[in-house]
Amino acid sequence: SATILAACMVGSASAADLVVGFSQIGSESGWRAAETTLTKQQAEQRGVDLKFADAQQKQENQIKAIRSFIAQGVNAILLAPVVATGWDEVLQEAKDAEIPVILLDRTVDASDDLYLTAVTSDLVHEGSVAGKWLVDTVAGKDCNVVELQGTTGSSPAIDRKKGFEEALAGHDNLKIIRSQTGDFTRTKGKEVMESFLKAENGGKNICALYAHNDDMAVGAIQAIKEAGLKPGTDILVVSIDAVPDIFQAMATGEANATVELTPNMAGPAFDALDAYLKDGKEPPKWIQTESKLYTQADDPMKVYEEKKGLGY
Ligand code: AHR
Repeated sequence: SATILAACMVGSASAADLVVGFSQIGSESGWRAAETTLTKQQAEQRGVDLKFADAQQKQENQIKAIRSFIAQGVNAILLAPVVATGWDEVLQEAKDAEIPVILLDRTVDASDDLYLTAVTSDLVHEGSVAGKWLVDTVAGKDCNVVELQGTTGSSPAIDRKKGFEEALAGHDNLKIIRSQTGDFTRTKGKEVMESFLKAENGGKNICALYAHNDDMAVGAIQAIKEAGLKPGTDILVVSIDAVPDIFQAMATGEANATVELTPNMAGPAFDALDAYLKDGKEPPKWIQTESKLYTQADDPMKVYEEKKGLGY
């Protein structure tokens, strides 16, 4: 029976025997590509048979992939959810099939008994670290800020906005004058920044850019240069992820600060899964990864070299 089978699983299965489905969002950013690389590496190292499905940014594709993983009878599912809402039904289906789901890097608006655990950073905190850096850096001077948001409806876009606004609250010298989505991509980051620059006196009204990820910041840096301004000096640039390219930009003074998000979400996820399936050990509902601030003072080229080997 299913109960006996489940009892046998607990106590015998180790990562090496597992078939795990991974529903990935797509490859919108350098960070995302690194997360995919590291998840595949981690699976291989542990002898996990990983079934990979790229959803090309569409929730409907993720839902289809999860249903197909359920039909194949995988041992577990990793899900990086593109948006926060709309998961209840399919997560319930996985639960009914007794397949544990682990969320990677983004959270969902659903009851936490529908998934085993979530491996994410504190996304609100990331936004507030970026905001606090800006508050401290402008030190009371008036500063108009433009914001490039991540994918609309995604938990990092919602939470990074919230955290940043919380850090700016009470500092009336800082004002967010424009805020729009750049969908976490370089191309859209550049495009939207061009429209901000045009609308704000060629950029002369803008003192700082806050981008919800480094890729959009890198695109925006290009737009700022093409507008004849100096990114990092005329317009301060702060973003999130800590991908190698942003360290190159910091080394040349074109970016100012970034908040690190580890692309290795799979390591802690597989550890939790192993302990759960092998020893029946329930993980906490949230496995939190670190959020470290880097600035130009942190030897950016050295960090760039270190990062290059880590999935990027
Ligand atoms: O969910 C994490 C975010 O998604 C990363 O910050 C961004 O680069 C990615 O696309």
